[in-house]
Amino acid sequence: MVLTDFSVNSGAVFTEAIGNDRLDLLTDYPFTRLANLLAPITPRANVSPILLTVGEPQHTPPAILEETLRATASGWNKYPPVGGTPEFRAAVGDWLTRRYDLPAGLLHADSSVLPLSGTREALFMLALLAVPTQKAGRQPAVLMPNPFYAPYEGAAVMAGAEPVFLSATRETGFLPDLDALTPELLERTALFYLCTPANPQGAAATPAYLAKAIGLARQYGFVLAVDECYAEIWLDAPPVGALQVAAGLHKTNGPHADGKPWANLLVFHSLSKRSSAAGLRSGFVAGDPALIGRFSRLRSYGCAGMPLPVLAASTALWRDEAHVEDNRVAYRAKFAAAEAELGGRYGYYRPAGGFFLWLEVGNGEEAAKRLWAEGAVRVLPGAYLSRNNPGEPNPGDAFIRVALVQDADTVAQACASIVRILG
Ligand SMILES: Cc1ncc(COP(=O)(O)O)c(C=O)c1O
Repeated sequence: MVLTDFSVNSGAVFTEAIGNDRLDLLTDYPFTRLANLLAPITPRANVSPILLTVGEPQHTPPAILEETLRATASGWNKYPPVGGTPEFRAAVGDWLTRRYDLPAGLLHADSSVLPLSGTREALFMLALLAVPTQKAGRQPAVLMPNPFYAPYEGAAVMAGAEPVFLSATRETGFLPDLDALTPELLERTALFYLCTPANPQGAAATPAYLAKAIGLARQYGFVLAVDECYAEIWLDAPPVGALQVAAGLHKTNGPHADGKPWANLLVFHSLSKRSSAAGLRSGFVAGDPALIGRFSRLRSYGCAGMPLPVLAASTALWRDEAHVEDNRVAYRAKFAAAEAELGGRYGYYRPAGGFFLWLEVGNGEEAAKRLWAEGAVRVLPGAYLSRNNPGEPNPGDAFIRVALVQDADTVAQACASIVRILG
């Protein structure tokens, strides 16, 4: 096959496909689509742009980050091990045990934790780990909420699975309806991505919901990947975590399958939001030691380990809570500012967690264009985070996602513009 025409900047345009044609099943990435949508529009003069699209917190990261990087700079010339350092794993194990009130000693960090250079790459690579050639004699399915974090779909498609989009609307509590999953679908499910608190809607799964999801994973033999990267950005109460629920099931039901409390389960956590350190590229995956072992083996082929200074800085950050509480105080102020300006318009609700407004504005794309043109406020159309199921409306069409990543005054200014422009 010959590459005859492509453009790097405007999203790849292949007139004749080269290589893996699964890539052509994906749309452009949401932010590429947004850039294309807004490129022809010049915002009104004399207004400073307010960027509320990417979930990239603009808070200053805590000083211990830079201090630790400087103190451990001798590590930059070493290839780091895929499994990280014992200190990193211990800090994560201690944090998980504290945060989720796990019984002491239940989580063995050395066999249940892997460092990740940000969770995005591992959420993507997970599909290569979890999707077999066939399941129940058919093409495997990868389940995900709809709307969803775009890498889930990319991962499913590139691993050769069928992505199955489970509507997560106001009617379903903004999480997929687990009772609607048929045995036929579950039998060929290889992987289920859940996100709690959810991006973009901020809904948090209850213990009963997570218990049901874990039970289904075990009953039907699939991997349950719970993306908890917003777990530390909460407004009123810390959202429950999947490991916490699994530990509870372990206690009540007795050990699952020969004493495996984390069977079929992986959770993903990140410092990008918790510590406002998206550029550090630091997260971890934890859970089922059998899956972690296989993931480590796969990652030895396909990943660079986390650099030693980054491991040290991450260790320090997972051991510190003060900066995380400061972050939560800042987000609460931003939600208060947004709430005051929006006054219940566009179906505003106070989410359980995360830092997004998910606003129902009629037509998300049109709203994004008008907000950029008339107010220099940049937001993401909800439809860029969701897909159409045949015969169903796209659950993101009527929405915009507004990331509260700027300070409270800027959030207030942006929300005032939204009300002025959209009415
Ligand atoms: C739902 C969700 N999961 C995972 C990530 C990835 O975060 P990172 O790769 O920075 O850890 C993001 C980032 O925006 C996200 O929104």
